[in-house]
Amino acid sequence: MTLTDRLALTVPIFQAPMAGVSTPALAAAVCEAGGLGALGLGSSNAETARTMIRETRERTTRPFNVNLFVHADPAEDWPRETAWLKALGHSFAEAGAEPPDALRTIYRSFAHDDAMLAMLLDEKPAVVSFHFGLPDAGRITALHEAGCLLLATATSPDEARAAERAGIDAIVAQGFEAGGHRGIFDPDGHDEQLGTLALTRLLASRCSVPVIAAGGIMDGAGIRAALDLGAIAAQLGTAFIACPESAADDGYRAALTGEAAEHTIMTRAISGRPARALANRFTRLGSSIDVPPPDYPRAYDAGKALNAAHKAKGEAGFGAQWAGQGAPLIRAMPASELMAQLRRELHDVR
Ligand SMILES: Cc1cc2nc3c(=O)[nH]c(=O)nc-3n(C[C@H](O)[C@H](O)[C@H](O)COP(=O)(O)O)c2cc1C
Repeated sequence: MTLTDRLALTVPIFQAPMAGVSTPALAAAVCEAGGLGALGLGSSNAETARTMIRETRERTTRPFNVNLFVHADPAEDWPRETAWLKALGHSFAEAGAEPPDALRTIYRSFAHDDAMLAMLLDEKPAVVSFHFGLPDAGRITALHEAGCLLLATATSPDEARAAERAGIDAIVAQGFEAGGHRGIFDPDGHDEQLGTLALTRLLASRCSVPVIAAGGIMDGAGIRAALDLGAIAAQLGTAFIACPESAADDGYRAALTGEAAEHTIMTRAISGRPARALANRFTRLGSSIDVPPPDYPRAYDAGKALNAAHKAKGEAGFGAQWAGQGAPLIRAMPASELMAQLRRELHDVR
């Protein structure tokens, strides 16, 4: 049975898991339209994750994808963190706020989160996916034995090979165009920055497991191109952010549907890991700071505090406004309508 059959997909569209942006309502709407909906639970604890899985199940009986972050533990580097907070100090002051005294590790990696594993083995979601790395063999075997199909993001052939060797069932080929966090396993290592086209083709021709293309895909023509490159489906993130079912706030929606969508930038300043965002006041501030940010997700603790301070004063330009290079093609409409539109476009492409 192919993966598409196993997931009962009637259209080769995966909605990207988007921590903080995807919701049970969005995931269920995509599933009900014949695609694979997803929950981004990488920043949630096991209890919240279980609640979101159950809420999604109340809305759909179809399979969906539950996504987790498998990052290395951050260094608690006080001198570096103090220097970073000092560099952000002026921006906090502008919003009438103080930077935090110290940074916290605001969420755990699935690599060590036994409560999350136990919850997954209990809830048995149809699909579990990993971003930033791979869990150990014990976790992979346990999830397989629970009947979960496993996906992992790869940004290079080396990462894809590691995923295949670990027994992952399908690989999400994430090009440099993609919105949100780059799934690269080692954020401090060399990055080839392969685009979606080259990466998808490379992985589709070399991997023995199915490949899903991600990055800059916004419409039926993009999905068709991914299929032509040998992908079994396309994973779209940015395309779904302006749907009313997403958790994006008003400032993010306004930026995405206006002029600001024309410019994206890869930045580490917001969270400590490279991620593609709309160019805004935060990314410009990040480009002007010459000390390195703390490790992910500790830098994100500062980033979220800075955004909260400015948002309280009505300034939206410090939000983590993740978006891919295809952002100007975004369409704000309910997810069911967007799925119907994507399906029509895909079939119309010659
Ligand atoms: C707002 C946002 C949040 C994201 N969060 C996650 C996440 O939690 N887990 C994950 O695997 N990928 C995440 N991604 C990356 C997507 O899986 C995917 O690679 C990307 O959206 C594809 O590029 P596109 O946005 O141009 O469609 C996120 C992307 C966006 C735009």
